[in-house]
Amino acid sequence: MKKILLSGVKPTGRPHIGNYFGAMRQFVQLLNSGDYECYFFIADYHALNLIQNAEEMKRNTLDLAIDYLAIGLDPNKATLFKQSDISAHTELAWIFDTIVTVPYLQRAHAYKDAVAKNKEINVGTFNYPVLMAADILLYDADVVPVGQDQKQHVEYARDIAQKFNNTFCNGNECDQGGVFKLPEPLIMEDVATVPGIDGRKMSKSYGNTIELFASRADIEKAVMSIVTDSDSEIPKNVYAIHKLFKSESELKPLYEANKGKYKVLKEALIEDIGVFIKPLREKRAELAKDENAVLKVLADGADKAKIKADAKLSLAKKAIGVQVN
Ligand code: TYM
Repeated sequence: MKKILLSGVKPTGRPHIGNYFGAMRQFVQLLNSGDYECYFFIADYHALNLIQNAEEMKRNTLDLAIDYLAIGLDPNKATLFKQSDISAHTELAWIFDTIVTVPYLQRAHAYKDAVAKNKEINVGTFNYPVLMAADILLYDADVVPVGQDQKQHVEYARDIAQKFNNTFCNGNECDQGGVFKLPEPLIMEDVATVPGIDGRKMSKSYGNTIELFASRADIEKAVMSIVTDSDSEIPKNVYAIHKLFKSESELKPLYEANKGKYKVLKEALIEDIGVFIKPLREKRAELAKDENAVLKVLADGADKAKIKADAKLSLAKKAIGVQVN
């Protein structure tokens, strides 16, 4: 039996190289390793906390599906679907809501950040980790490849699985092993937090991103605005991004030979990002020509995911006693 791997991305705008190196590249590598039964989904209900416009939601969702295919997620090898197509996610989230406490959710980093920014927080944002736990636990995921910022969410999923099993699986039918498996986050140490052009974590909300499918002009614009107020001869923000694209041994002579020459180093980085992105952009442009084929991939994926999710939800419903037959 292969281990089960699951992960998702929110369709909140164009993915950036932080998403790619922190998580999406691992999706492709782990899928191609052949060691896992893989599920990759589009977390549209999570995105609804931010994207509250139908046209934008549709566009972002379709775009992300194309992105998944363009980076090499093969729908013949992995199940690709969107969250909202599988109603078991929201149904299970409700069941979990009844065993998760408010103080526990108040400890979530994302919630605390929102509070610190004095945001008027919606219930969906507060409950975010509960829906995410349902996403993961419905598929019996063993591993969840993510960036560092999602680690706590995977830990929440573990806690919630354990709490459900403890609450409902004592000395009855679901006792052996419980209904839910405890997942592990899979985080690549060197790219756990990819920095943005200002040195902070790369994030859409900080406006410090380099898009994964950026045009040459966009790459130039982003790289030229990398903050270089470093005292040392090596511009550390440029270097931190550069080493995503080239090994440190390849970069060493370049940075040695061009100490203090920030413009030359930035131009080299533009070149290297361009070479890396070009084939991805070309593949994406090809795939984007046939949107119906992309929609078909999502529909087929949903058919497969639904079977697995519904079977697990049914076990959970039996365990809590709402499904009597
Ligand atoms: P999202 O859409 O914000 O990000 C997608 C993935 O990209 C990673 N990431 C980064 N990694 C390293 N450095 C960065 N600067 C960086 N920025 C983003 C994220 O860690 C993530 O792995 N909650 C999730 C979506 C989700 C999900 C799930 C993931 C919903 N349900 C179930 C896994 C399993 C999110 O907001 O990802």
